[in-house]
Amino acid sequence: MAARDGLDAAIGKAIFGRMWVPAPASTRHADGLGPLFAARSCASCHSAEAGRTRFRLGRDDPGQDPGLVVRLGSSSGAPDPIYGAELQPEGLGKAPGEGRAAVSFAASGKPSWRIEGPGYGALAPATAMSARVAPSLAGLSLLERVPEAAILARAETEARDGVSGRPHWIEGPKGKSLGRFGWKASEPTLAAQAASAFTLDLGLSTERRPEVAGDCTPFQTACRDAPQGAPPGEPEVASDLFASLVAFLEHRPAPPPPALSRRGVTLFAATGCAACHAPSLPLGGGAGVAAFTDLLLHDMGPGLDDGVGEQAAASAEWRTAPLWGLSRTLAQGSGLLHDGRAATVADAVRWHDGEAAAARSRFDALTPAERKTLVDYVSGL
Ligand code: HEC
Ligand code: HEC
Repeated sequence: MAARDGLDAAIGKAIFGRMWVPAPASTRHADGLGPLFAARSCASCHSAEAGRTRFRLGRDDPGQDPGLVVRLGSSSGAPDPIYGAELQPEGLGKAPGEGRAAVSFAASGKPSWRIEGPGYGALAPATAMSARVAPSLAGLSLLERVPEAAILARAETEARDGVSGRPHWIEGPKGKSLGRFGWKASEPTLAAQAASAFTLDLGLSTERRPEVAGDCTPFQTACRDAPQGAPPGEPEVASDLFASLVAFLEHRPAPPPPALSRRGVTLFAATGCAACHAPSLPLGGGAGVAAFTDLLLHDMGPGLDDGVGEQAAASAEWRTAPLWGLSRTLAQGSGLLHDGRAATVADAVRWHDGEAAAARSRFDALTPAERKTLVDYVSGL
């Protein structure tokens, strides 16, 4: 079984790196890209070793970075009627790309987004833009294995200090399931996340998401009419290749454990960071995973509210970002928070409001020496 798993993961790695090409092509099983898409491969956005994309808002041009994706929608989560649920800057054949994301900043530093060179006219008045950086893929199978009951139990006991995390229930054909992945915990499993990446980011159909035209809406006729990469009724990404890709995701090792800092651990708890960034979640059988997330949604206040709801998550609600691997994210110069706007841990905390307001106040009230100990600890995770 293990050998078979390893083989699957090796094939999956190749699928992860594969540059998909437009249909029709002579390379069967590698075509079907787009016609609207954000990148040609998973690896274009998620680096080979799968750290977070290097994008930092305010330093890098968002219109040039494939690792930054822009979701489109209303505050209740309805996609744009013309552009769909995601901005795809690239188009093939007669289907023009949708345009590039551009940003300006309010005096508070809060970003405000627009489309430069919109391919299909103006966005609907109710549509807002939500920029997201591509996260690290390290250790995700552990987060998939945390028993649902353990996450729900945390939601029950968290209510303290105005902290009130809630599970993101995702409605599906087989009833509701608990969302875990993505900045808003909108995908319950790695397979579901991969299928939606194929649909939204690459314009490729899978058995799970059979829509052949990806995120093209009925108004995007050139996209709808373009050739497809598979005969009707068959997915563009063959099911065995898809299964191998998921095996690859499941084999991404967790980030290495941090150096021990007793003072750091104590301050992290006393300041209230641990209320959401849970230092450990149970895996069953006495084991635990130190990802520093509770996998729950929290209302983070107006500074992080970008106006785009997603499924049952409100526009100000975000999944507690796992802090494991943060040292590497910082070392490679990637921005923190969902849109990469924060350069340091202290910058990230400055944007914590809503349910995290009490923790932020306590952080501000630390002595400079304590604050440095806490920031060094978190920066070293
Ligand atoms: C155009 C850039 C882009 C491409 C291409 C892309 N991703 Fe992503 N990926 C993202 C972004 C951005 C997110 C965060 C999405 C969100 O939260 O809304 C993400 C999230 C994820 C996550 C969840 C990570 C977590 O911490 O919860 C997984 C797993 C993932 N992608 C796998 C894939 C796979 C597999 C492919 C190829 C089929 C792929 N991605 C293609 C940008 C991309
Ligand atoms: C109420 C819950 C809550 C509390 C309390 C909280 N956080 Fe967070 N934290 C979040 C959420 C949710 C995000 C993701 C927000 C986003 O990306 O928009 C986040 C993101 C972060 C990030 C950025 C991580 C990344 O991957 O980009 C850092 C760093 C961070 N928190 C540190 C802290 C520290 C330090 C404290 C204590 C002073 C703290 N947090 C308290 C919920 C919380």
